[in-house]
Amino acid sequence: MTLSGTRILLIISGGIAAYKSLDLIRRLRERGAHVRCVMTEAAHQFVTPLSVGALTADHVFTDLFDRQAEHDVGHIRLSREADLIVIAPASADLLARMAHGLANDLATAVLLASDKKVLAAPAMNPAMWNHPATRRNIETLSGDGVAFVGPATGEMAESGEAGQGRMAEPLEIVAAVEASLGGGSKPLAGKKIVMTSGPTHEPIDPVRYIANRSSGKQGHAIAAALARLGADVRLVSGPVAIPDPDGVETLHVESARQMHDAVLALLPADAGIFVAAVADWRTQDAAGEKIKKVAGKGPPALQMVENPDILATVGHHRQRPGLVIGFAAETAEVETNAAAKLARKGADLIVANDVSHDSGIGPSGVMGGDRNRVRIVSDNGSDAWSEMTKDEVAARLAALVAERLA
Ligand SMILES: Cc1cc2nc3c(=O)[nH]c(=O)nc-3n(C[C@H](O)[C@H](O)[C@H](O)COP(=O)(O)O)c2cc1C
Repeated sequence: MTLSGTRILLIISGGIAAYKSLDLIRRLRERGAHVRCVMTEAAHQFVTPLSVGALTADHVFTDLFDRQAEHDVGHIRLSREADLIVIAPASADLLARMAHGLANDLATAVLLASDKKVLAAPAMNPAMWNHPATRRNIETLSGDGVAFVGPATGEMAESGEAGQGRMAEPLEIVAAVEASLGGGSKPLAGKKIVMTSGPTHEPIDPVRYIANRSSGKQGHAIAAALARLGADVRLVSGPVAIPDPDGVETLHVESARQMHDAVLALLPADAGIFVAAVADWRTQDAAGEKIKKVAGKGPPALQMVENPDILATVGHHRQRPGLVIGFAAETAEVETNAAAKLARKGADLIVANDVSHDSGIGPSGVMGGDRNRVRIVSDNGSDAWSEMTKDEVAARLAALVAERLA
């Protein structure tokens, strides 16, 4: 229990993401933390004190002028009897009031009276997050020593809206809490893990290539989650538009053959996790010059040849890591194909996901989107995980890797 005996004061403000705070309370408590909650008045519009109190098994504090609460605990004691104050979600309004030192409700009075570390998980519409006023407030609060987790980039609860502003997932907030309290178990300390992520680009000529829709989001999230658990992660990434994951040594390659060579050069390792959507085929001879369109000549015929199979190579390698995990992106018969892949590739686990358009996941689908629904296939059978964000899949998979390597 990584948070055993710690006291966390959770402030819930008025935003859609408040429903995730209920899960956050559970996650903190199952790690041994004692959680006390303050709710702003607006937060009552999104979750009830009844639910929050049932999950904390404690009184929920909501009113600065509540005589009974003030008599029993009081806003000063509330702020002092905590090891860490977590604000999740932190609304634009609450951040603005904090930045200006207001104390016009219980949440802000507690924050102003506190001498404790504060960790905020902002959640708001991307336009609010990017507004110059919010930017100023975040800068001021950072200068005051407030730590932030998130917000993440992705689809908003409001339909059709996307950008930065989505609250960090409960497990990410838990990881930030653990890091902030100096705890945080590092079950993967001393373990070297080789990973791949993203697509590959297979050149046709110097300006054209064959690629796929992989964004690298899932692989990069897994790399970051493993690093948070203390692993020495070496990531070989194909061309992606997202930043290198925090705490991960990242190598950039383009083609499947480059990815293959980079992975083999990183062996030996304790585990290999192959998330990249590696192109199965490449053009036999990429042209050295741009192929010209010539009137009347028609399109060029591309002769394709097979690329090396990185997962199968590592799965049967003399320096095979003790744990080999492959990803299977399938559009049909997901489980059957994953089970066949397990044996053929010499993998211990296959993480199978349905990347078909009718997988039912969001408008952007699994590839490129923020959510995923996976099935973990091993010799012991298959375990279907419910739909969750890619960060949550990453946190759960990292925990599974830690269990397997223990
Ligand atoms: C349906 C709805 C959703 C809202 N979601 C958010 C949100 O995600 N983030 C935010 O900063 N404000 C959001 N607001 C606005 C806040 O609730 C409002 O600014 C409120 O005054 C915040 O009060 P508080 O900071 O005291 O909790 C939302 C309002 C409504 C009506």
